[in-house]
Amino acid sequence: MSRVDQFQKDGYLVIEGFNSAEDCDALMERAMWLAGRYDYKGHPSIFETGNQTTSADDYFLNSGDRIAYFFEKDAFDPNGQLKKGLFESLNKIGHAMHDLDPVYDRFSRSPQMRKLAAELGMSDYLVIQSMHIFKHARIGGEVDVHQDSTFLYTEPNTCVGFWFALEDATIENGCMWATPGGHKTPLRSWFRRKEETGLEMHALDSSPWDMDGMQPLEVKKGACIVLHGALPHYSQPNTSGKSRQAFAIHTIDPAAHYPERNWLRRETQSLRPL
Ligand code: FE2
Repeated sequence: MSRVDQFQKDGYLVIEGFNSAEDCDALMERAMWLAGRYDYKGHPSIFETGNQTTSADDYFLNSGDRIAYFFEKDAFDPNGQLKKGLFESLNKIGHAMHDLDPVYDRFSRSPQMRKLAAELGMSDYLVIQSMHIFKHARIGGEVDVHQDSTFLYTEPNTCVGFWFALEDATIENGCMWATPGGHKTPLRSWFRRKEETGLEMHALDSSPWDMDGMQPLEVKKGACIVLHGALPHYSQPNTSGKSRQAFAIHTIDPAAHYPERNWLRRETQSLRPL
């Protein structure tokens, strides 16, 4: 079965050996270097998939065209001090490294990436968002079941994500889980800006998630998982002693309508393709 057919059937594709170990290491080193330059005092922002509406501060809302830093929800003690070092406390960095940082730019638009995009008929797709997810040992939090199109909503639905394992991802350290064929179910919600201020999770469909159909996508360092925007997926907390770093980019078809009310806005730079 061709990759295109497999992607259309399952809503995802697992490609092992997509990036070299050296490229994965370079990206993890870059993240550590960026984090080392970050002064968090004053505006720590915590990332929780189930709770974006209450953590919807300006820092998060303006992160669409910046390099911003988000902490694990258990990172701080009651006095607001970090319990561990800054790097070990980070949940992720986002959401525009692929355009603002040369190392992330090269990784996101590598020759193998452009080849894959061409194979999937996505050569002109725009990279709208990037995230470096740390999933550090013992503190890395869960990511609730969701569909990426909820957060990168277009009309029609065109969001496709590329998730790159920078380290081995196993059931123990919180690999991704997904339901094969789940992308054929409706989009459940649209995460958007309210008319006035703040954010809301706007319900579109109340179909339940098929949790029994969820399968673990255990992959080796260097793997790429392509994710259809409507595919339900999640990951469990990392309770192991090994981190599970990953980098993800999300793309949209330039021909689709990108509503003003989407949470993620690009104010200062124009979008670039893969
Ligand atoms: Fe996702």
